[in-house]
Amino acid sequence: MRSKVTVVGAGNVGATTALRIQQLGYADVVLVDVVEDLPQGKGLDMLEAGPVLGSDARITGSNSYQESADSDLVVITAGIARRPGMSRDDLLLTNMRITSSVTEEVVKYSPNCIIIAVTNPLDAMVQNVYETSGFPRNRVFGMAGILDTARFRTFIAQELNVSFEDVQALVLGGHGDDMVPLVRYTTAGGIPIRELMAEEKIDQLVRRTREGGGEIVALLKEGSAYYAPSAAITQMVEAVLLDKKRILPCCTYLEGEYGINGLCVGVPVKLGAGGMEQIIQIRLTDEERAALNHSAASVQELVDVMHRAKGDGTG
Ligand code: APR
Repeated sequence: MRSKVTVVGAGNVGATTALRIQQLGYADVVLVDVVEDLPQGKGLDMLEAGPVLGSDARITGSNSYQESADSDLVVITAGIARRPGMSRDDLLLTNMRITSSVTEEVVKYSPNCIIIAVTNPLDAMVQNVYETSGFPRNRVFGMAGILDTARFRTFIAQELNVSFEDVQALVLGGHGDDMVPLVRYTTAGGIPIRELMAEEKIDQLVRRTREGGGEIVALLKEGSAYYAPSAAITQMVEAVLLDKKRILPCCTYLEGEYGINGLCVGVPVKLGAGGMEQIIQIRLTDEERAALNHSAASVQELVDVMHRAKGDGTG
């Protein structure tokens, strides 16, 4: 039997993710959005590609969650983008309300599913989905680190003129400007990049990685990145559905690991059929630890704003 995956939010990230998953062929996909007829239209268009692509995977669109019932995995991309005049906290609280209502429906119809949250601000939204769902932490995590490392890997491979495949990297922390690319653990063909590149060049690529999302937004003028994000989500979906036990950087709820307690931030984890099966802990230098703590503090600020809003009833 094929697995069942629901993607909530049929916008750029959600629709492209649904398409990529359908093309894998081993999961049926349900696309859910609040906009009337949008998910139905996109779903039907993708389904009609099946005969050409040779994919028997079913894909349907819906404005309700009934069709999503008993999904094995649910990807949440629903949200709004920041509009002119909107503060960071306005965006935070709007997307908090959206992801809370989405999560309640997801939990009602698919009580045993694994949830991958993607809506920004990423780490705070993962925290909200985790808290709202009441699921154990292995079944709720977020996509950011794979995208951030993919950007870092791209820039390094381009600079060295080597295969993208041969470059491995690791990024810790929140999905923001203060993310922590771990240069020590970044290699090309197993060779640490410090052996291959000058320190100034590495600094430059780290900066470009940190600002990677903004670089795409500036070029697109409207909307934000979705091709690389959807590829990253699909890699996580595949790791779970095929029980691959991949080690990938994901946003997960920490309970003391890396000295952080009660907060969702990015760390390397093992992804398999059980979802987030293990947090991989590595030793950090003092400098790396300070950078991770700084990044976690930025996430904590957003989480505090969310908790206050929920506490005073404005959430
Ligand atoms: N339920 C379901 N869908 C919703 C809801 C809701 N309550 N509220 C909004 N949506 C839908 C919108 O109708 C829209 O189709 O979410 C979709 C978001 O799509 P886009 O605006 O195209 O945004 P996208 O580029 O896909 O990004 C989605 O992922 O990477 C993050 O920062 C990005 O937070 C953003 C999210």
